[in-house]
Amino acid sequence: MTEPTPQPKKLFIKTYGCQMNVYDSDRMADALAAEGYVATASAEDADLVLLNTCHIREKASEKVFSELGRLNALRAERAAAGSREMLIGVAGCVAQAEGEEIVRRVPGVDLVVGPQSYHHLPELVEKAAGRPRNLTARETAERAARDGRVATDFALAEKFARLPLPSREATRARGLTAFLTVQEGCDKFCSFCVVPYTRGAEVSRPVADVLREAQALVEAGVLELTLLGQNVNAYHGLDAAGRPVGLGELLRRLAEIPGLARLRYTTSHPRDMDDGLIEAHRDLDKLMPYLHLPVQSGSDRILKAMNRRHTRADYLRLIERIKLARPDIAMSGDFIVGFPGETDADFEQTFALVREVGYASAFTFKYSPRPGTPGADLPDQVPEEKKAERLERLLELTTEQMRAFGRACVGRTLDVLLEKKGRLAGQLGGRSPYLQAVHLDAPESLIGTIQPIEIVAAGNNSIQGKIVTDSERKAASLVESSAA
Ligand code: 5AD
Ligand code: SF4
Repeated sequence: MTEPTPQPKKLFIKTYGCQMNVYDSDRMADALAAEGYVATASAEDADLVLLNTCHIREKASEKVFSELGRLNALRAERAAAGSREMLIGVAGCVAQAEGEEIVRRVPGVDLVVGPQSYHHLPELVEKAAGRPRNLTARETAERAARDGRVATDFALAEKFARLPLPSREATRARGLTAFLTVQEGCDKFCSFCVVPYTRGAEVSRPVADVLREAQALVEAGVLELTLLGQNVNAYHGLDAAGRPVGLGELLRRLAEIPGLARLRYTTSHPRDMDDGLIEAHRDLDKLMPYLHLPVQSGSDRILKAMNRRHTRADYLRLIERIKLARPDIAMSGDFIVGFPGETDADFEQTFALVREVGYASAFTFKYSPRPGTPGADLPDQVPEEKKAERLERLLELTTEQMRAFGRACVGRTLDVLLEKKGRLAGQLGGRSPYLQAVHLDAPESLIGTIQPIEIVAAGNNSIQGKIVTDSERKAASLVESSAA
């Protein structure tokens, strides 16, 4: 008699929040692939569901608890129907911040793993699978406190050293662009932000590790790399000689990898935008002319209360210097409205700053008091309606700026990385150097190449282009050389 072939165990990871969580989710999938888990697209089909969570604002973290309720109900349905069991895990920043609290509040959770402990994931899953089922909620909660289901240690360097690199096939399946975490954690302690508490102190990965991972990604077909860090431009990883290297130098070394076409990095703090990095923008064609540089507020009083350690003038001067180095750079930013004590006049300064800079993209948020951060205890919290009103005005301005930026691209020819099939037949989707989504009619054979594309129209959230033919290209270069 032949044994039935064992079904592979299926893993579903739901990712909330920032790009670093996207990167971490892939690394968790890589670690569990070694244990026989294959990815699936829904919780309904999974043996193990992981929620990779975000704690940055209250809304983000509350979502996790409602999703856990839904998963527990799904598991109960399965148990009643006598079908497969399901393990439920919580990862990410909510896991880090509220580890024990999660298992108290949601007794069905089988494991909780903070971002610095992902290398422990296989053991945690194995332990969870071996635990007795059918306990009462109270028994589960009592055991949870001492059965090692919560892993929230801070040992970041170990995490990177012990997590496996993705397989070639896994990288291929993830597409032509990839994230690569080079730095994690933050020492800036902006008074609104939980990151220094959930992701811990700044740690930079050694240069050789970053180069090795980048090389492997490029060999598997990746054309565009985005370096990630909560405060990425504070990067100071050690090189082979034990010398700390800044982000500008790291980018120079990465730019030497043959086959790698584009580099980006996010998110930066204005204080860490040093000369080396600005010079990298001047010198490296592969470094895309798009910079996400959050300012948060345009009022010096509020910047001080936020502990941002830069003024409005510092920020504007910095942008001027960056533009001198790379005149075609497009700016992106983050803004918080309604920080405690923010008056109408403070908000007007933010509004005016946005006008002055002119952003190609922007992310606007209502201040959300986070437990344990200094901002949460400040007097003069701004009423919700006021925050909503300011957010709406700012959003209107930044949306219009983004659209104006798109319109200004019409008539220009941009290099577009053609990534995938578009929604309509015969259409492809790609990314411009400025991170805009571009749609155009082009043959599928061009997927995986970078082409000069003439931008012909701008929509609300994307731009449309057309392939530039060889003869058009020649004619354009003749015009350019005669102009020069
Ligand atoms: N409330 C609102 N927005 C916040 N951000 C960080 N913490 C908070 C908070 N408590 C925003 C900042 C940051 C972005 C990632 O999220 O603008 O740059
Ligand atoms: Fe948070 Fe400020 Fe650090 Fe950014 S720089 S992660 S906003 S503390």
